[in-house]
Amino acid sequence: MKVLIVGGGGREHALAWKLSRDDPTLELIAAPGNPGIASVARCFPVAVDKHKELAHLAEDEFVDITLVGPELPLEGGIVNLFQSRGLPIFGPTREAARIETSKRFAKDLMVRAGIPTARASQHSDARAAKAALAEFSSPVVVKASGLAAGKGVVVAQSTAQAERAIDALLSDRVFGNAGREILIEEYMDGEELSLFVITDGHQALPLLAAQDHKRLLEGDFGPNTGGMGAYAPTSLATPELISRVMSEIVRPTLSAMRDAGSLFKGLLYAGLMITDDGPKVVEFNSRFGDPETQAIMPLMDSSLLELIAAVAGGGSLSRARHPEWKNLSAVTTVVAAAGYPDKVRTGDVIQLPAAEEGVVVFHAGTAIDPATNQLVTAGGRVLAVTAVASGLLEAAEVSRNHAERVSFKGKQLRRDIGWRELTRGARVT
Ligand SMILES: Nc1ncnc2c1ncn2[C@@H]1O[C@H](COP(=O)(O)OP(=O)(O)O)[C@@H](O)[C@H]1O
Ligand SMILES: [Mg+2]
Repeated sequence: MKVLIVGGGGREHALAWKLSRDDPTLELIAAPGNPGIASVARCFPVAVDKHKELAHLAEDEFVDITLVGPELPLEGGIVNLFQSRGLPIFGPTREAARIETSKRFAKDLMVRAGIPTARASQHSDARAAKAALAEFSSPVVVKASGLAAGKGVVVAQSTAQAERAIDALLSDRVFGNAGREILIEEYMDGEELSLFVITDGHQALPLLAAQDHKRLLEGDFGPNTGGMGAYAPTSLATPELISRVMSEIVRPTLSAMRDAGSLFKGLLYAGLMITDDGPKVVEFNSRFGDPETQAIMPLMDSSLLELIAAVAGGGSLSRARHPEWKNLSAVTTVVAAAGYPDKVRTGDVIQLPAAEEGVVVFHAGTAIDPATNQLVTAGGRVLAVTAVASGLLEAAEVSRNHAERVSFKGKQLRRDIGWRELTRGARVT
């Protein structure tokens, strides 16, 4: 079997790493990949938005299944194109991916289907949006409807801050068309949880829930990022909670997608807020999350490849083996470049510590400098260091210590990944 992975970040490295373990005879190729992915796959320099070139690559290389990592090609219709050429691909169509690419579409769907989520009003006119602020108490959340690379959401502590966010999106168009429509949302209090399900559009199999760390600074302060670390499992995700999320959120969402004529196949990522009133949806994503994937793949004991192959091949998951998990904990510490998440500096030479038992270093924003042949920084999030151990505390220490020993100029990392869970544990004992 031969698989093409589209993407070149830490998530795609973790997926490639897992697939290569599921079947050591598997042939893996990646586009564009990165220097870490190159250790398990042959990389082709094709960008993720070059859908036709990617389809040619899949045809020329006799690829059996294509797995799409990032959201951009999904929004651009890569799945539609591959399907029209009879190329098996794992991921939702452009229409189904609207659950991520249009927060407005997702909110309408949730309201229609009675899925628990924050109350919201939708606007494309700044004056009307500001007037609507009166219907919400502070803090209030202002969101661009479209894809804004994790930067289109402001949790405003005051009306003035909310008004500035409205002006930035609707009047100044800082995110272009992604901010042509906005949502004003009620603020939900609680802890966030990421739940991924693999689905054929009807059946859905949940993966291990994880908790992300969105803020740049320790203690969850500072600006939002793509994610500075993750851990799993979390005691927040009790079996009762997961079964509630499956019955109140995931299954009704898949059913509403079918009703909307957009069968959702692939990976549905439910971003949840666990409130006093139960789990509510913050947002959906239409693909694996980064860095949660880097934390959960090393814990997965059963085959990911089997599930991906079943869905991409147009089969059903009804007889698929349910995912199984190691009875261990994983902590992923992201090592980010100087300047992240604003103006990222690239080209700093990276030195990696010696390999360590129980640690996997996933590459995200790295490159080989062609002039010097050295490994250098090439993106905001440079590496994701995952440690697996029998307990969370140990996994956190090993991950942090290994990440501390990565060296490059201006390196940034959080040394408190897993802190919510670790302090919860302290309260219990
Ligand atoms: N209604 C809400 N209540 C509280 N926090 C929110 C709410 N909506 C978003 N957030 C916060 O903002 C972050 C980003 O919002 P999200 O809807 O996930 O958009 P995106 O990931 O596309 O930037 C969330 O992870 C959460 O921390
Ligand atoms: Mg999000």
